[in-house]
Amino acid sequence: MTPFLQIENLSAVIRGTSDRLLRSVSLEVNSGEVCGLVGESGAGKSMIGKAVLGILPAAVEIAEGQVQLDDEDLLAMPQADRRRLIGAKAALIPQDPLTALNPSRRIGPQITDRLIDILGWTRRDAANRAAELLDEVHIDNPQRVLASYPHELSGGMRQRVLIASAFAANPKLVIADEPTTALDVTVQKQILRLIREMQERHGTAMLFVTHDLGVVSKVCQRLTVLFAGKVIEQADVADFYAGPRHGYSKALLAATPKFTEPFTSLMPVDRAVITAVTAEIEAADGAWHHG
Ligand SMILES: Nc1ncnc2c1ncn2[C@@H]1O[C@H](COP(=O)(O)OP(=O)(O)OP(=O)(O)O)[C@@H](O)[C@H]1O
Ligand SMILES: [Mg+2]
Repeated sequence: MTPFLQIENLSAVIRGTSDRLLRSVSLEVNSGEVCGLVGESGAGKSMIGKAVLGILPAAVEIAEGQVQLDDEDLLAMPQADRRRLIGAKAALIPQDPLTALNPSRRIGPQITDRLIDILGWTRRDAANRAAELLDEVHIDNPQRVLASYPHELSGGMRQRVLIASAFAANPKLVIADEPTTALDVTVQKQILRLIREMQERHGTAMLFVTHDLGVVSKVCQRLTVLFAGKVIEQADVADFYAGPRHGYSKALLAATPKFTEPFTSLMPVDRAVITAVTAEIEAADGAWHHG
């Protein structure tokens, strides 16, 4: 069976330059599987998610590679077809629940718009679905929340709304981009539990982006470690925690305080290891430029 999401040799550059932000990234997510994408700030984790969802910043362009979603070659198809396909099959749970919502609009239409515009639902069906979804993410008074503005809700409530919104169109793949980072620790736990619950109930494949190896050990089956836009190691989670292969992965694990506890912040990774992995990447870059 081919993976639901298959990224092959994906390189992204700053437009008009050969400065690579992603370096021949290959990555697969099977149907129903939760894969971690781990790395320090600036590694390119969000860039991979944005490349899949077709929302790269204007300054970034794809230089080579393929992104296949459900056996369809996303980068080869016309923009409008791509948008429709992604809208129907994939969704994002964003990092920052405040900036992801439009502050001047009520919650209800922010959930229903996508259903109406991309999937052609009727307003009435979309409104019913929105209320049902808020119930699913354990929001007590859905009608009140649907009529609220984002600033009237707590950070945790806003993230519940965004999780509901991500699952609205029954996506087969959800990309969760550091979905708990902006929240405080007790809320992080509830939100992580909710994401797992929704993922299991819907059988959704998930790419779970995080810098926190403690969270990965709790939710993922496999993981990819990224450094400077390059895949450093891919492994089953159990094998990885039993002993990562690459020196950088070892250092990253060592920099995660008590990695079995989620919601820890990363300590600096050992400098000598960073120097070594950077040299390794520069050598590979030389081969890329001249190859
Ligand atoms: N709009 C942009 N134009 C040019 N470069 C960008 C842009 N956005 C991000 N970058 C660069 O791309 C690289 C990868 O950024 P990305 O946001 O994917 O990192 P990340 O791994 O998600 O980090 P974080 O954990 O901080 O979210 C970084 O070096 C960043 O400076
Ligand atoms: Mg990011």
